[in-house]
Amino acid sequence: LPRRDWSGHRVLVSAGPTQEPIDPVRYLSNRSSGKMGYALAEAAQARGASVVLVTGPTALPHPAGVEVVSVETAEEMSKALTMRLSWSTVVIMSAAVADFRPKHRAVNKLKKRDLTNPVLDLEPTGDILADLSARRTGQLLVGFAAETGDLLRHARQKLNAKGVDLIVANDVTTPGAGFGSDHNAATLIDRDGAISELGLRSKRRLADDILDAALRLARTAVRR
Ligand code: PMT
Repeated sequence: LPRRDWSGHRVLVSAGPTQEPIDPVRYLSNRSSGKMGYALAEAAQARGASVVLVTGPTALPHPAGVEVVSVETAEEMSKALTMRLSWSTVVIMSAAVADFRPKHRAVNKLKKRDLTNPVLDLEPTGDILADLSARRTGQLLVGFAAETGDLLRHARQKLNAKGVDLIVANDVTTPGAGFGSDHNAATLIDRDGAISELGLRSKRRLADDILDAALRLARTAVRR
């Protein structure tokens, strides 16, 4: 029988990439498949939580019993999450949000013949996680850190800069892990600096391990 240890919790999960339009047919994005976030949504639902999944474009079926909100851009994802923050008790930010977007979105398809020396003008998107952290009213916040080196140092920086309770640090260069894979490996670092290393395993299994750690934190100590 599944544990129902998340009943009573309302969990907001973000998943997938964002797409930042260049023109009506082109966009900037990344390699996120959504699998990590969907696994988290499914695991939390199976353990008794009410779950809302805010997802960028993916090829995955909607998880049963989960309310799905589909978005495209970082700005839409930010709005969808911010709107639901006060409803939630826990937020898990596994989406791979674009850090930059084209400054201008062309109304018509850019024509190759008109572009002799094409340059994309970019501007930063807002940091959704840092924003949610600034607005929170007691919610537990879980962030991710996707790194390609110096995992712990970068992850600790993100934990502090974004003001989260738990960060899931994954080295996305690990063979068989990270973007697109059914498996992942991660190091969890919590707000007190406690570290736990979770070697390669299915994203569903990792999702349950993340939920275990988050539930322990939710049950202890007053949040900042
Ligand atoms: O989707 P899959 O194919 O299953 O792959 C899973 C994954 C590799 C995408 C996932 O495990 C993962 O690492 N997700 C976070 C990806 C990411 O954007 O990491 P980051 O280190 O760039 O960002 C740190 C944190 O800030 C993340 O929680 C991110 O959601 C958040 N963020 C980032 C930028 C931004 N503008 N706003 C944010 O909230």
